[in-house]
Order: sequence, then C-alpha cells, then structure tokens
Amino acid sequence: MTSSAATDLHTDPKRFDGVDVYAVAGNPISHSKSPLIHAKFAQQSNQNMHYGALQPELGGFAKAAQEFFAAGGKGMNVTVPFKLDAQALADVLTPRAQLAGAVNTLWNQDGKIYGDNTDGAGLVRDLLAQGITLKGARILLLGAGGAARGVVGPLLEQSPKNLVIANRSSAKADTLVTIFANLAKANNTILESVSLEGLENSKNIAPFDLVVNATAAGLDNLSPLSNVAAANIFVPSSFAYEMLYGKSTSFMQQALQRGARVSDGLGMLVEQAADAFLLWRGADLAKSIDSRAVLTELRS
Ligand code: ATR
Repeated sequence: MTSSAATDLHTDPKRFDGVDVYAVAGNPISHSKSPLIHAKFAQQSNQNMHYGALQPELGGFAKAAQEFFAAGGKGMNVTVPFKLDAQALADVLTPRAQLAGAVNTLWNQDGKIYGDNTDGAGLVRDLLAQGITLKGARILLLGAGGAARGVVGPLLEQSPKNLVIANRSSAKADTLVTIFANLAKANNTILESVSLEGLENSKNIAPFDLVVNATAAGLDNLSPLSNVAAANIFVPSSFAYEMLYGKSTSFMQQALQRGARVSDGLGMLVEQAADAFLLWRGADLAKSIDSRAVLTELRS
C-alpha cells in the first residue's frame, strides 16, 4: 500500500497473491489481539487468509480503508477511534449497525462496502457461555457512549425484565432510552435511565443480576460507581462484566468485595471476532471454529 496516511503493518493485499487479506484498523493498534484471534480461527477452519493490522492517522481512516479495499482487501475490523468513521464509510449498513450507531466489521461485496456491528452479539454470547441467564434478568448498563450503545440492542433481544442505563452525563442515557424504546417494548423489557447519583439512593435501587461496565473509566483507574452505589447494586448473586480486558479494574474490585462474580471483556473480544470471521468466510464454518478454545489459549 502506498498510503502515507497509514502505517501498514503487513496488510497490503498486493503483497499476498492468491490469499484473502483482512485487517484490523485502529490507532493505536500494535497491542491488538485481533490478528492472533483470526489466525487461530483460520487455522481451526483451514482458511487460506492473512489478517494484519493497520494504523490510519487520526482523520485518515476513510482514505486508508478505501485504499485497502481498492487493493483487493476482503474485510476489515475497526476499533477505537474509528467505529463512527467506519459507519460513515459503509455503503450498506445492517439494521443492527444502524441501531448501534457504529461499525466494527466491514467487507467488500459486489463492489459495495458493507458495515455491521458484532460487538453486542459478542457480549451476549460471552455472557451466555459463562452461564449467565439474560431472559427475565435485571440488568444495569453503565455508560452511554459508543461501547454502551453497541450492546443495548442485542441485550434487549434477550428479553431481560429490566435494562437500566446509568451514565455520568445522564442526558446521554436518556437519549439511548428514546432510541431503543420500541425494541424494549417488543421484548417486554422495562428500559429506563438513571443518573450515577441516583444509584446511591437505596430506596429506589434494588440489586441487579448483571451489571455491565461500558464506560471508559477503567482506563483512568476509576470506577463509574461510588462505593455507596456499589453497595446498593451488588449482591453475591450478581455478575459484574467489565468490557475492558487485561487488568482487574476498580469496578471489578467493588463487585468482588461484595461477593459478586466478575468477568473482564476478553471473551467479548473473541466472540465479536468470531462473528466477523463467519460473516466474511461463511456461516457454515461455525462448527469448525472453537471460540472458547481460542479464549482459553489467550488467557494462558
Ligand atoms: P466508548 O466508545 O468507549 O464508549 P465514548 O463514546 O467516549 O467511548 O464513551 C465513554 C463512556 O465512558 C461515556 O459513557 C462516559 O461518560 P460521559 O458520557 O458522561 O462522558 C464514560 N466515562 C468515561 N470516564 C468516566 C468516569 N471517570 N466515570 C464515569 N463515566 C466515565
């Protein structure tokens, strides 16, 4: 690839004659586990493909992605901070990508760029694989940014009893409630928003079965929850899911201190990758890949 706008880490499709080339694009990208995960899936299902990493400059995503596809690239995963740029780039969006407001998976089909979002489905599959019951559950979602919005639809489709969205800027949580009101109704879910301060009022807040942290607070070694709020929402039967991975965050510590079970987001990363892989290579390969084995390998 000749682009000066992107750092090409082994992704130029022209260098891989006869091999289907994919890439993950983000900035920064060198830490990404996606090339390793997709190499494992390709190995498990005997696919002749190469999956590299691409680091477009900030503001340079569209150019880098267009060059990648023009050079023959088959598909691309998109991560921070380019998921909105990817949505803008796609010619065709799946309904769930439209609802999510962001795209993490692109592919070229008949000359058009398709965009989907597999993050929410990845979260749901990881939760189910960990034995969490979502139907009829009381769920609290912390955050109302891109990561939170991407998972609201797939969580609602599991028909929880309640989905409460709490965000530091509460107006953003209110907006998500408005966007997803119809889907909540269709799934018999009570969808509400509450402020982070509202979680401190034990008269109004009952404990939750599942609490998902989709905020970026853990990146700054913070939790969105005060200790008063944590005491209200966690009981030993609760499950606390942190979307970040690679470290035990303050949010996870708060849950552990109250006897709850916790998980980081590594399983979600592997499961969203599995969905992208199947979109690109064919759903019939679902039986050939073993995402839980890949997760176990990543953890070891
Ligand atoms: P992402 O794509 O990771 O969701 P984002 O769209 O910038 O990134 O959203 C970040 C989310 O983390 C938001 O919900 C943000 O809250 P605000 O909407 O109030 O900004 C939340 N967040 C970030 N740092 C936080 C902190 N220290 N405490 C609580 N919430 C925090």
